[in-house]
Amino acid sequence: MLKYFEYEQNSLTLSWADGRVTRLDVLWLQDHDPAGRHDNGQRLISVLDLDWQAGIRAVDRQGGSLVICLTNGRELTFTLEHLAAEQMTTIQDDRSWRGKTLWRGEAFTLPDVSWPDYTGHDDIRCRALAAVAESGLVLLRDVPCEPGQVLEVIHTFGYVRETNYGRLFDVKTVVSPSNLAFSNLGLGPHTDNPYRDPVPGVQLLHCLSNEVDGGENLLVDGFQAAARLQAEHPEAFELLTRIRLPYRFIDEKADLRSRVPFIETDGAGNVLKVRYNNRSIAPFMLPFEEQRAFYQAYRLWAETLSAPDLAFTCRLEPGDCLIFDNTRIMHARTAFTDGGRRHLQGAYSDLDGLYSTLYRLGASAC
Ligand SMILES: [Fe+2]
Repeated sequence: MLKYFEYEQNSLTLSWADGRVTRLDVLWLQDHDPAGRHDNGQRLISVLDLDWQAGIRAVDRQGGSLVICLTNGRELTFTLEHLAAEQMTTIQDDRSWRGKTLWRGEAFTLPDVSWPDYTGHDDIRCRALAAVAESGLVLLRDVPCEPGQVLEVIHTFGYVRETNYGRLFDVKTVVSPSNLAFSNLGLGPHTDNPYRDPVPGVQLLHCLSNEVDGGENLLVDGFQAAARLQAEHPEAFELLTRIRLPYRFIDEKADLRSRVPFIETDGAGNVLKVRYNNRSIAPFMLPFEEQRAFYQAYRLWAETLSAPDLAFTCRLEPGDCLIFDNTRIMHARTAFTDGGRRHLQGAYSDLDGLYSTLYRLGASAC
């Protein structure tokens, strides 16, 4: 509820009963004029249409609306409901680490849900997808152990991100693999495919069989690791947000390249994405004066990601399908024995599709 308002030539200040205060520039008011929007919500005006000479001449409360009269004769009408909406008084940011739950392995409980519940109830699917948004991952159990089923899982929240590996990829031991993921070697904490631009935002791993000794999955919250690095080694953190390394994957069909930092931030220093994949860093050159400091920071990042207290260990059993944010969660695998079968199917999707489904389901209602 609006308690009171006051205005000056170039600004309007609204004080709400719950203590929130909204300050709005007259340019913002012109740009957000509801009359400047199509019924579909898209803007009909551009920044070039704003009148930089116009100020506020008067503000009048009329029932459930505020009518703002400008010095150029225009009237802007906003409903109080519109102005009071949460997104009008707080900066909405679903993608950076702000507002997310950062976790450490030893104190983490992996969110999980059964496939029948997930597919049968929108509120349960909403909570599962909200777990990916908030904690970076969710485990679906009892997913049918059918080859290709991982694509059906993606269809419940988004779109398959097809790559040069195809619509899905098999993770099972092969002789002379093109990628170490297809061997029985252990793999350190990493994010997938940093050589793609943009990187796939969501990865899925669906276990079809697992009869080997070893082969456990280690998961690390990369946002937590970045927060620790920033707290303990702020210079290293800063360097790793600034230096962009080249990544490359090359085989007979593809030559994929990108140049990105280990830690990606928004303009205000909030972490948006993290990555680490030692296997695919291309040869790179830095100014000599920066080389030693870079290697120190690089090592600290690797050490932080390998800190035992950050790692959460789980063993995927047949029917388990792990969905995780590939811009945040590092995954690793312990080595496993040659005998026995271990077969996972993986696939990629993107975060915008997952968030879209989450918004459509009504995240606050789940
Ligand atoms: Fe991987």
